Formats: sequence, C-alpha cells, structure tokens
Amino acid sequence: MAKITFKKDNIVAEAAPGTHLMNICDEKGVNVQFSCRAGSCVSCLITIESGMENLSPPGEVEKMTLEAFGCQPNQRLACQVIVNGDVVIN
Ligand code: FES
Repeated sequence: MAKITFKKDNIVAEAAPGTHLMNICDEKGVNVQFSCRAGSCVSCLITIESGMENLSPPGEVEKMTLEAFGCQPNQRLACQVIVNGDVVIN
C-alpha cells in the first residue's frame, strides 16, 4: 500500500498503487478544492514535499496548465495524479 500524507490537514491515508489522488481526497475529506476535475483550472493545485517520483507523470493537459499558471516544479494538479507509492503533500 502507498502512504499518502496530507500535512496541512494532518491526514494520512493508505491506498493501493494506481489509485487516483482525487478519489483519496474525496474519500478522506482532504481540504483540496476540485472544480473542473479535468486539469484545466488549477483549483486543486498541490505542493509535493516528497515522493514526486511515486506519482504518475503529468500528461499534456496538466503540463500545459501548470506552465500557463506559472506553477513550480514541485506542484501538481491533484485531479490528474495517480499515486504509485508514498508521497507527502504540503
Ligand atoms: S480540479 Fe481543475 S485542475 Fe484539478
């Protein structure tokens, strides 16, 4: 199981590798705001403290959005991420 730590919310979740982060957030009541759920609005922007290598790489839509909004290399869109291992989200 992958361990997903949401530091701001003080929530630690476990999920099978391959689980969509959005589903984990919904299930655990994590305070990430989802709007479009399609990678185009950045309302679900999160900062990865560690474990970036355990996340699915950004697809074209996410890449374009992150770039357009001037996001940092350690930021991802929670609605686009699949968790494959441990991660700490700040
Ligand atoms: S909810 Fe819009 S980019 Fe994730």
